[in-house]
Amino acid sequence: MSDFASRLIGWQRRHGRHGLPWQGADAYGIWISEIMLQQTQVATVIPYYRRFLATFPNVAVLARASEDDVLALWSGLGYYARGRNLHRAAQQILAQHRGQFPRDYDAILVLPGIGRSTAAAVCALAFHERRAILDGNVKRVLARHRGIAGWPGNPKVEMQLWQQAEVLLPETDVAIYTQALMDMGATVCTRHRTDCTHCPVREDCVALAENRVNELPGSRPRKPLPEKHATFLLLLDNNELLLEKRPGSGIWGGLWCPPQLEDDSAGVSDYAARNGIDLDLCDLSELAVMTHSFTHFKLHITPLLLRLGRKPQRIEQPGRVWLALDDIDAAAIPAPVRSLLPQIKNAR
Ligand code: ADE
Repeated sequence: MSDFASRLIGWQRRHGRHGLPWQGADAYGIWISEIMLQQTQVATVIPYYRRFLATFPNVAVLARASEDDVLALWSGLGYYARGRNLHRAAQQILAQHRGQFPRDYDAILVLPGIGRSTAAAVCALAFHERRAILDGNVKRVLARHRGIAGWPGNPKVEMQLWQQAEVLLPETDVAIYTQALMDMGATVCTRHRTDCTHCPVREDCVALAENRVNELPGSRPRKPLPEKHATFLLLLDNNELLLEKRPGSGIWGGLWCPPQLEDDSAGVSDYAARNGIDLDLCDLSELAVMTHSFTHFKLHITPLLLRLGRKPQRIEQPGRVWLALDDIDAAAIPAPVRSLLPQIKNAR
């Protein structure tokens, strides 16, 4: 039986994914794709990747764009820290490497938003360097094939997986091998409904031999996610909705959202009074509650639609806009806000 890497490489050539838009791209394109693919599936990423590369074709253009324009193209992909880090990283590359994406692993690793596996993936795919990767898909493939128990987020388990990733790395064809591991994890060695009959390394897979495919890798010891409640104030003045820019680092940081009242805040009238908005609370309707799961908590949002009768006094403030409903779709807004647009338009 040939070794693990050569079987994977042979399988990738015949059965792996080819023709993905970032395959054959330069280091810049591969970097963008790897960041987009960190928590998001290929099919979702493809149109975002195309639009992003068409708008920001190189490091310098990305670095000189506004954060708002970058986040507008990220809108709907989620995990917006990725977009903000990408923008900051491009500015660093422009300042420190004259806009040339660095060729050196250590220089890549220090960029914002890039960890050991992503830096290695860029080096392997773009520069054919011999580097081991270990993203979520690869952790699953290795945990099963090598029979490594435990949750991969546990540092001891992760260390064992890195050791295996290094040991199994071939001397040549590292780019194809890297793509093979990713493709295996996405199409054959999937979390559910694993397709072991089509696996090129099934003969010596420990999990398959021991009937533990569904047990490995071990899952995170689960605490229930805390639940929070909040209200979105949809303040509609004729055709325009009030949006506020969310502070930099929290959820949806840098994105435009309707004002959000937390559970413990004083309420709509108080918000209006503090912000110089003349509200007529007679015209108020409550839309269906939306639930959004973040990594660390679940958020239940009650959207409250308030149509303003008289013209509100518009106190111009940085970080606040009244935006025409037809322009909101192109703005940097999170997906749950986008999903409210049809209801808001209907209610006009
Ligand atoms: N997931 C992470 N990187 C990937 C890549 N280059 N191709 C397909 N899926 C991926």
